[in-house]
Amino acid sequence: MKAIGIKEYGGPENIVELDATKPQINDDQVLVETKAVGINPFDWKIATGSVKAWLKLKLPIIMDSDFAGVVVAVGANVQEFAAGDRVVGFTLTGASAEYIAADPKKMALLPDNVDFTTAAGVPEASMTIWQGIFNHAHVQPNEKVLIQGGAGGLGTFGIQILHQIGAKVYTTASAKNADLLKSLGADEVIDYHTTKITDVLSDMDVVFDTIGGDTVAEDFEVLKPYGRLVSVLGAQPNELAKEKHLRVMDESADFNHLDLQPMVDSIALGKTKVVIDKTFPFSVDGVREAIETSQSHHAVGKLIVDFSK
Ligand SMILES: NC(=O)c1ccc[n+]([C@@H]2O[C@H](COP(=O)([O-])OP(=O)(O)OC[C@H]3O[C@@H](n4cnc5c(N)ncnc54)[C@H](OP(=O)(O)O)[C@@H]3O)[C@@H](O)[C@H]2O)c1
Repeated sequence: MKAIGIKEYGGPENIVELDATKPQINDDQVLVETKAVGINPFDWKIATGSVKAWLKLKLPIIMDSDFAGVVVAVGANVQEFAAGDRVVGFTLTGASAEYIAADPKKMALLPDNVDFTTAAGVPEASMTIWQGIFNHAHVQPNEKVLIQGGAGGLGTFGIQILHQIGAKVYTTASAKNADLLKSLGADEVIDYHTTKITDVLSDMDVVFDTIGGDTVAEDFEVLKPYGRLVSVLGAQPNELAKEKHLRVMDESADFNHLDLQPMVDSIALGKTKVVIDKTFPFSVDGVREAIETSQSHHAVGKLIVDFSK
């Protein structure tokens, strides 16, 4: 079968077509015929080897993790899905292939009115921010919440979910993305190129930091005492954070059916939109270009490899 991935860690030039065989499923897996793949920064963090010290994977690796497709076979123990079901899901690696041996516990049923290209943008980004909002920060209506990185995959979902639960949503982005983010529900968009958030924001109840590095010190400044910071890139409390009794949470997403299905259903109901920046064909050049675009750090919403292109 056609599969795209890496034989050695490195940059996009190392992405090649692999000599792969159609996967055999075990009793607990389903075989999915892939229709679209969503790209996430973690896909190129795996490919470059930047996480290999703690994530041990055997090379070659079929790349990418978010997928949408159709179930073509189910293992003996699988109750949740049947052949012919349209599905969306997460697999750590292995998505950029014609067939995926997938874990049904990390998949959701895809309603007929959501196309595969849209669906493939959902799993990793939406589940991460969903879990940050509901399982880590426990955001309440009317709380003041800042998302650092509103125009990214996590940010575009996060703004919408927070707006839906009645939080007041502040976010950082480039000026060109302000109108889009306001249309998704952001109350205030701060252009981080021209404005220091510490000059314009204070007393935040919660900050979600999807950028990391220098932004973390700003997060501590704008949070109110006893405020909560959820970082997806690892944040350590500094002296100020300790003085203000901030709760600093380091989130590692747990991809599962229970959080994915309501997100997919919300998209089917038209409540939540998947912002798609660009689609790419399922080819070595297409996957390389998608990964390079993600590495630019300026994709708006999601990047999708569309197998029908
Ligand atoms: N811990 C976990 O479980 C977990 C799970 C998922 C993702 N992550 C990580 O979370 C991070 C974000 O993921 P993502 O999918 O949202 O990334 P993404 O879609 O690639 O984010 C791109 C966006 O970042 C914005 N951006 C870049 N620099 C910025 C800055 N200094 N301030 C504000 N916005 C800035 C850009 O907006 P402009 O173009 O408007 O500047 C762009 O739209 C990644 O590093 C990813 O690996 C962690």
